[in-house]
Amino acid sequence: MATTQRTFGIVKPDATAAGNAGKILARIEENGLKIIAMKLMHLSEAQAKGFYAVHKERPFFGELVTFMTEGPIVAVVMEGDNAIQRWRDLMGPTNSDEAPAGTIRGDFGSGIERNASHGSDAPETAALEIAYFFNATEIQAPTEAL
Ligand code: CMP
Repeated sequence: MATTQRTFGIVKPDATAAGNAGKILARIEENGLKIIAMKLMHLSEAQAKGFYAVHKERPFFGELVTFMTEGPIVAVVMEGDNAIQRWRDLMGPTNSDEAPAGTIRGDFGSGIERNASHGSDAPETAALEIAYFFNATEIQAPTEAL
């Protein structure tokens, strides 16, 4: 059964620097996912550390924070049937070197760190990640509530 979900995505600094943000956002829209909130921002070290706190014990944490603060990102909230899995399918595997052509990471990323995009992995993390970047007034309300 179809389940309407919200998910959170990031166009990462490698992709914005290469001028690929528009192409990645177009793939979201072409896939039929609805963008209900979006902002371009340059993360501070504290913001990047907080967002990736779950990875703080990993050996790559420092590098990941440096990468995520090197330039602007686009933070996006998407809505649609099974949005979490659909956005993950659009991105492809985490490691861009293993991501097939036609996926965002396959087409715009390089390696496991500079992988062009992030996506929530479950409803609970989607809710946490959306709330980390957006307050309620920044997210388009459901149509029926207008
Ligand atoms: P993301 O989906 O944003 O979630 C955590 C990120 O950590 C992941 O994408 C990768 O960019 C990065 N990452 C995961 N594993 C490694 C690794 N082994 N080395 C460097 N970066 C990694």
